[in-house]
Order: sequence, then structure tokens, then C-alpha cells
Amino acid sequence: MKITVVGAGNVGATCANVIAHKELANEVVLLDIKEGTAEGKSLDMWQTAPINMYDSKIIGSTNDYSKTAGSEVVVITSGLPRKPGMSRDDLIATNAGIVKSVTENVIKYSPNAIIIVVSNPLDVMTYCAYLTAKAPRNKVMGMAGILDTARYRAFLATELNVSPKDIQAILMGGHGDTMVPLPRYTTVGGIPVTELVAKDKLDAIVERTKKGGGELVNLMGTSAWFAPGAAAAQMVEAIVRDQKRVFPVCAWLEGEYGLKDIFLGVPVILGKGGIEKIIELKLTPDEKKLLTDSAVAVKEVMDVLDKMEKVA
Ligand code: NAI
Ligand code: 2OP
Repeated sequence: MKITVVGAGNVGATCANVIAHKELANEVVLLDIKEGTAEGKSLDMWQTAPINMYDSKIIGSTNDYSKTAGSEVVVITSGLPRKPGMSRDDLIATNAGIVKSVTENVIKYSPNAIIIVVSNPLDVMTYCAYLTAKAPRNKVMGMAGILDTARYRAFLATELNVSPKDIQAILMGGHGDTMVPLPRYTTVGGIPVTELVAKDKLDAIVERTKKGGGELVNLMGTSAWFAPGAAAAQMVEAIVRDQKRVFPVCAWLEGEYGLKDIFLGVPVILGKGGIEKIIELKLTPDEKKLLTDSAVAVKEVMDVLDKMEKVA
């Protein structure tokens, strides 16, 4: 079993490290366009294997996709990250070119791979990979919901001084400030969160979650990588171990939630077939409106990509 991670930057290297550490594949290929970067980081990681006690091989490659041939899952993290003052959407032109050429190479050598996109703007880069790969919708998806939900769960764990393990939550919509955390579906050890956290505090946590990526960009001058890398690796794990995990994933909708021809974060069952099922929750009118608003925001950026494709 082989898994490839494209982009050996902060997120890609972290993701490959978690994949190897969890022994999700015999071989993890890390590929980057920057000469020597992937080889160097792979060698460094491989030298943690005797310390961390794993035997997944990690192989670095400078843009040689033949090394990725036959990968079962490919994670695409290549692309520019945000700098302070930038929105994810500011990255579209540069990252669309990168994601398109990367996907072409990925599919050439691994035509059956399941593709997980991480590059931003997430929903639209996933659309870009989907258009390029021409694969069925269950096999091309984006990572954002696990990360955004993890931020929400971590904030709640801090607020309540409880283990983050006991917080279950779901968050839908695009990976941007219009994302839709759902307190009605948030529990703490099975107890509805609304019984434990006052409304004003919960509202503040929801708002902080929506801007959670920007908070880290402002602190570090670039976007986050530990949680994003771990979140993408968790999706890989669900697929290669056929775990049937229920996660929020950026998926192509064909009428679910009344939405069509759009990539948006929704709860899915993730297993060896990729997205095996999209779960349709009964949303309240308010929640539905928030999801529709988020879809409108994502669609606007998808339209920018469509126009760029027509010009190209
Ligand atoms: P980074 O700058 O540390 O790494 C990006 C890597 O991509 C660099 O090593 C670069 O050389 C490589 N690259 C650029 N063009 C390439 C190409 N054509 N082929 C192969 N490699 C190429 O950036 P970081 O922090 O790892 O972020 C990567 C992307 O992930 C960004 O677009 C960022 O916005 C996004 N991101 C998305 C998240 C999500 O929740 N979906 C969370 C965090 C980051
Ligand atoms: C994040 O949410 C910037 O998408 C990146 O950390």
C-alpha cells in the first residue's frame, strides 16, 4: 500500500509524518517541486522511525511522479498559504494552476487514487481537482471540516475544562468565515452542549471557530499545520482502514441539502470507497439559511475558477 502527499511544506510534511507514525501504508511518498525539500524532510522523518517505532518507509521526490505510481490515496497540500491580511480566496489564481498540474500528474500515475485536497481556497481547489481528475465524486474530496470541528471542540474543551475526547460536534458549509458550526448537534459526553455552556459564551466560541484559521495566521505570519496535517491524515486513516468514520468532508453535492453542482462541507461516511454516503441532517430553517449563505459564498469563488478555465 502506497500513500502520496504532494507538497512537503508545513501541512504536507506534518501529514506524511502522522501517516507514517500510524503505519497507514508500507510506503509514504512525499513530493515537492522545490529541489531537495521532500527528500530532506523524508530522510529526517525516516530517522524518527527507530525512535518512534514504526516501519512505514518515507520516500522523498522532487517532482518525479513515477515514484508515486499506484498510490491508493493522494493528499494534495501544494500551494501558497495565507499571509496576514489575506483571505483564502486571494490564493485562487496561483493555487488553481498548481492544483491542476499536480492533479494531472497524480492521475497519470495513480488513475484509481482517492484524492484529498487541502490547498486553499479549499472548496474551490477541491472543485479544481475534481474537474481535472474526472473521477467519480466519491473519490475526490476536501479536508476542512475535521479541522474546523477540531478547533470548535478544542475551544469547548478549554471552556468546560473537560477532555476534548468527550466533545462530539459537527460543522458544515465552506471552509471560510461562512462555515456553519451546529451547537444543536454538539454534545459533551452525550450531554447537549447547550445545557453546559451559556448562550453568549457558545456564540463567542462559534465566532472564534469561524475565524480560527485567521487567528493562527495573525499569530504565526502563516497558516496552521499541526491540526491541518493531522486532520488530513485522519481522513487517510478512515479510508485505508475502511473505518466508516462519520466526518464533515468537503463533498460534491448533487441535490443533497437542496444544493447541486457545488463542493461544500457535509457529514459523510468515509471508508475504503472514499465518500460512501452523504448524511442528510434535518436542519432548522435558521441552520438551512446559514448553509445556503455559505454555499452562495463558495459558488462565487467557484465561478471565478470557471471563468479562469474559460480564458485559459
Ligand atoms: P507551505 O508553503 O509550507 O508548503 C507548500 C508547499 O507546496 C511548498 O513546499 C511548495 O514548494 C510546494 N509546492 C508549490 N507548488 C508545487 C507544485 N507545483 N508541486 C509540488 N509542490 C509544490 O504551505 P502549507 O502551510 O503547507 O499550506 C499548504 C496549503 O494548504 C496552502 O494553500 C494553505 O492555505 C492550505 N491549508 C489548508 C487548510 C485546510 O483546512 N484545508 C489548513 C491549512 C493550510
Ligand atoms: C486554516 O484554516 C488557513 O485554511 C487554513 O488554518
